Amino acid sequence: FSLRANNTFGVDTKARYFTEVHSTEELIEALNYSKTSTLPLLFLGGGSNILLTKDFEGLAIKLDLKGIHEDIISDDEVLVTAKSGENWHEFVMFCLDRNYGGLENLSLIPGNVGTSPMQNIGAYGTEIKDTFVSCTVLNLENLQLETFNLEQCRFGYRDSVFKQEGKGKYVILDVAFKLTRKNHLIKTEYGAIQSELEHLGIEKPTIQDVSRAVINIRQSKLPDPKEIGNAGSFFKNPTIPSPQFEELKENFPQIPGYTNGDFVKVPAGWLIEQCGWKGKQIGNVACHQLQALVIINATGMATGKEIFDFSTEIIHSVNEKFGIELEREVNII
Ligand code: EPU
Repeated sequence: FSLRANNTFGVDTKARYFTEVHSTEELIEALNYSKTSTLPLLFLGGGSNILLTKDFEGLAIKLDLKGIHEDIISDDEVLVTAKSGENWHEFVMFCLDRNYGGLENLSLIPGNVGTSPMQNIGAYGTEIKDTFVSCTVLNLENLQLETFNLEQCRFGYRDSVFKQEGKGKYVILDVAFKLTRKNHLIKTEYGAIQSELEHLGIEKPTIQDVSRAVINIRQSKLPDPKEIGNAGSFFKNPTIPSPQFEELKENFPQIPGYTNGDFVKVPAGWLIEQCGWKGKQIGNVACHQLQALVIINATGMATGKEIFDFSTEIIHSVNEKFGIELEREVNII
């Protein structure tokens, strides 16, 4: 079964078996089947953060659980719970239509609701941990349902318990967010949002205006996976100790950095661009010409292995020039 339509890189790898589940019951049924035949498992959400490097000799399960539920908590608060198979951006639009605030900065992020807690998706000054309340998961060892609250998820920058000790142990079934109904907390500190709002001539932005600004910014520099295969940022922005940053600044006075305590976060896109990768193509793979952090399937014919090898070359050249080891953000399978 070709997984081409199930990964936003558009890589044509195959799974030995494939099934789509629409409810917890169907998921458990599929898992029981795989247990009797001891097949390795691969869970697929929106496919926007994976790179399939070879054919999968097991059962790929596409999680297609749908539904959104709202509970009004107070005049100003609402708890909105979405099933894992809901498309993330459509979910954000659903909330904005009802004037529920908190997710507007996360507009147009590819992928599904169910994978959003995995890497604590974030953009333009917001991460899901800011509004996240809990998620329901299926424990794959005993097939029991469990609830993870904010603390248990141990969210960090592009990180959670589901990428650490919980890796491969749970399937996320739904996610609940506490959103505002009065929307007094509009986050526009991020420079790019401010300039886009100015450009649009908006002085007192609503949550819908912020969403529009974010959509414009993303569309101006991030390739649409429907047109060009990609998985957004391929690497994490590295965090280095302040003394190392100061040393680098002597050789590279232009190096940007965002101080956080004793550490400095350096934009990987800048490092990659300085190494001459921006817009560069090798075979079927390229570094996006507008945002160097994004690797693209330039011809639509790239294999996962080609994309992986391309990313390894980027890691080597950044390491050689700056002594910084970039870490992949995308899940390599
Ligand atoms: N930069 C360059 N050249 C480039 C790209 C970036 O020099 O080709 C430098 C510039 O100095 C720029 C800075 O990097 O000011 C930051 O760039 P940008 O605002 O585009 O953000 P980013 O750090 O590259 C991160 C997230 C994005 C998210 C944006 C906005 C990570 C790994 N990526 O990118 O997330 O949309 O911030 O908040 O943290 C994703 O995860 O798929 C993703 C797109």
